Amino acid sequence: MSIRNLDDLLAEGVSGRRVLVRADLNVPLDKQTGEITDDGRIRAVLPTLGALVQAGAKVVVCSHLGRPKGAPDPQFSLRPVAGRLGELLGAPVHFATDTVGDSARATVAGLADGQVALLENLRFNPGETSKDAAERGAFADQLAAFGEAYVDDAFGAVHRKHASVFDVPARLPHVAGRLVLREVQVLGKLTGEPERPYVVVLGGSKVSDKLAVIEALLPKVDRLLIGGGMCFTFLKAQGHEVGTSLLEEEMVQTCRNLLERAPGKIMLPVDVVAADAFAPDAAHDTVPADGIPSHRLGLDVGPRTVAGFAAVISQAKTVFWNGPMGVFEMAAFAAGTRGVAEAITKADAFSVVGGGDSAAAVRALGLDDSAFGHISTGGGASLEYLEGKTLPGIAALEN
Ligand code: 3PG
Ligand code: MG
Repeated sequence: MSIRNLDDLLAEGVSGRRVLVRADLNVPLDKQTGEITDDGRIRAVLPTLGALVQAGAKVVVCSHLGRPKGAPDPQFSLRPVAGRLGELLGAPVHFATDTVGDSARATVAGLADGQVALLENLRFNPGETSKDAAERGAFADQLAAFGEAYVDDAFGAVHRKHASVFDVPARLPHVAGRLVLREVQVLGKLTGEPERPYVVVLGGSKVSDKLAVIEALLPKVDRLLIGGGMCFTFLKAQGHEVGTSLLEEEMVQTCRNLLERAPGKIMLPVDVVAADAFAPDAAHDTVPADGIPSHRLGLDVGPRTVAGFAAVISQAKTVFWNGPMGVFEMAAFAAGTRGVAEAITKADAFSVVGGGDSAAAVRALGLDDSAFGHISTGGGASLEYLEGKTLPGIAALEN
């Protein structure tokens, strides 16, 4: 890989230099309290930030959070993230209340060697996500002025052609941070020659979101296990009625084609937990996958499915898992996700967990992170990487 990394930058010496770090601090927040519910993405950039602090750099961190519409929106402020980042670093993080305005300029100018600043949400500025290269470029010019070098450690955003990801590295000496380097190394193992059997477990709600990755992975994997909301469109393609479960009617034929293309490779649930409402306290029963009552919706895979999936996973040498098997946020519908996750941790396999939701599920279910080979911080990014797409943020580092 022709990408320079943080060690190359550190070897040049960064003491007293301003280093702009693009991080992905897009963490989930509690809708009521605004509190951070999973700080995994903040922890994931600590190795890069810690090394820069140690080396005496003036560290200017920028990130997006959520999807504000190009203007300040308090519910998407990074302020709580600055607080948590400071706790984890063991030193206060200076927070700028804008991204490239007076507050940002003053905050960056005031940094001492080894101190860290966090700029307000990049997406409060229309230039960040603009499709117009000139508009993005103008914003990238302002951002680039805050650094003498640029580090991309925002793996979760490398698939976005955004100013901070794609245009800033064209303006500054640039390197991949520790997280981006590790993610690319690990995912590269999966796109190269993974040890076999190679088993992929996919969940999540929509087939349409995962179609490209299913198409790309199907020829490469030995088994593809499908759960989550998207399994119902596949079950329908097999000719089963799915009651009021999530269904993408327009994808049924596509699923049928996929099943025919690779007979026996795709494994679907044989039983599901069917509920009478999408609610934590809904009445529910385990039913066969070909016997979902017309008034019920499937919210998890059932125990026979978990046992079948676990048996396949136990034989695997490489496992990639993206997407929960059910509505794991509700205790009554968490067993499928937990069972599959536990099977992965027990397998004598190199395992990679891809995606915001599956990574959050691992932590929410209290599973041990270290039992997995790698937990990716990128949802869309890791899937697009596995699809073999050119990722704008990686391409920008290669130049
Ligand atoms: C993510 O959560 O997948 C990344 O932070 C990217 O966010 P986005 O999908 O809003 O671009
Ligand atoms: Mg996303």
